[in-house]
Amino acid sequence: MADSQPTLNSLAAKITELSETFTRYLKDNNIQQPTFAADSPTSYSSLSPEAFVTRQLLADALSDLWYLSQGPSESIYNYVHSCIPDASALNILNHFDFWSAVPLDGTASYPEIAQRVSLPEDVVRRVLRHAVTLRLFEETDPGKSSSNIRHTSRSAALARNAGLKALVSSVLDVASAPMMVMPEALRKYSRGKPALTQDMDETSFALLYSGGKLGNHKTSWDLLENDGEGENKGWRQRDFVSFMAYIKEIFHLEGVLLDAYDWKAVGKASVVDVGGSAGHDAFALAQKFPELTITVQDLPQVQTVFEANVPEDLKDRVSFVAHDFFQPQPVQADIYIIKLILHDWPDHEAVKMLRAMIPGLKPGARLVLIEYIGNQGETEEPALARSIQNMGTASDLRIMALFNARERPVDAWAKIFRDADERFELAHVNANPLTFISVVEFVWRG
Ligand SMILES: C[S@@+](CC[C@H](N)C(=O)[O-])C[C@H]1O[C@@H](n2cnc3c(N)ncnc32)[C@H](O)[C@@H]1O
Repeated sequence: MADSQPTLNSLAAKITELSETFTRYLKDNNIQQPTFAADSPTSYSSLSPEAFVTRQLLADALSDLWYLSQGPSESIYNYVHSCIPDASALNILNHFDFWSAVPLDGTASYPEIAQRVSLPEDVVRRVLRHAVTLRLFEETDPGKSSSNIRHTSRSAALARNAGLKALVSSVLDVASAPMMVMPEALRKYSRGKPALTQDMDETSFALLYSGGKLGNHKTSWDLLENDGEGENKGWRQRDFVSFMAYIKEIFHLEGVLLDAYDWKAVGKASVVDVGGSAGHDAFALAQKFPELTITVQDLPQVQTVFEANVPEDLKDRVSFVAHDFFQPQPVQADIYIIKLILHDWPDHEAVKMLRAMIPGLKPGARLVLIEYIGNQGETEEPALARSIQNMGTASDLRIMALFNARERPVDAWAKIFRDADERFELAHVNANPLTFISVVEFVWRG
């Protein structure tokens, strides 16, 4: 109905109302508002779930205002024209570490930056001229060729935070090119079929990397482990480790693992963190529960980051073993954590991984699956803000491109465990839409 449609003015009024609610919350809770200045806070610290939702409703209204102010055709044109150059500029700045080529409390000239990032000055000027339109850096004398460059809060956040930098590298540098060949991969492998191909040789990623010029890599894990020469080999995996730790920080997920299970009640127990990265979760868990002994398993290139970071006082209780989780599980433990692992694999691969666990499982062993709920399934709840849904749908498409995988609701996880073996008994489900995390616990009845 036409009269229920938002208009420029109704959206502007909604934006005013939502920003007032949001800024009142910030004031009442002494949370400092970021600005564009380089010394601004780099994020809003500890928003309540309600304030987070208000902010995302504000983001929805702002994007609607943008769409309507441009009109249907130009909003498409303008988006298509800029979205890839915007992403590419950010990716280049990040890849060549422009962030540390400009001092946080001063300025740098274009020639100085060019020298520090080892790129031609003309390229540096062109990339930065686009970047400043996105409030990534700014010119001291806008438009003048003699202008110097200084940080804004957005570029400074990347200079200050290695985790944010690793996030840009892992998401943009590794995953964006495969996403651009998705139409070709879908046309080649899934067109006219009732379902997406589940073959890992038929992902967009595998298609992009099959020609050899970019290296022959079947999955992004293979690229992460093997890209780079000599000492540099595995640099992308080390970046990914930093990205995983940062995800925990930005989404305030510290409590998720600690609350996922009654760790105190189990007392003295052995735990395996399957695909546990460089131990960021294991360290937190072992620190809080001194009776736990934890083995972290992950791919070989992760080990150096683990060794560099394992706290001295945990060395006798937390260890790292390089282990491919498609090979038989070598450790017989009381509890296995499988956190943010299986969503990266299509159903049959997830089943294969769970079957590989069986040789290590003793009767009564627990498997604690922790996954992001990117897909809530059918629900009676009111629809989430579009910008929140978009976080889930974006990662769903990314894992489609990389792995032919999908974000799954809780029911689908239960089915995967059943398909792997009837002896996996579902013991407990805790799906929290506010943290977007589901914890599903299984007991091995072998
Ligand atoms: C999305 S990350 C999750 C890391 C960690 N569990 C967390 O929640 O932060 C997936 C992890 O699986 C690891 N991985 C991928 N393929 C693997 C394999 N075949 N065997 C063991 N680990 C693997 C990756 O190196 C990465 O650390």
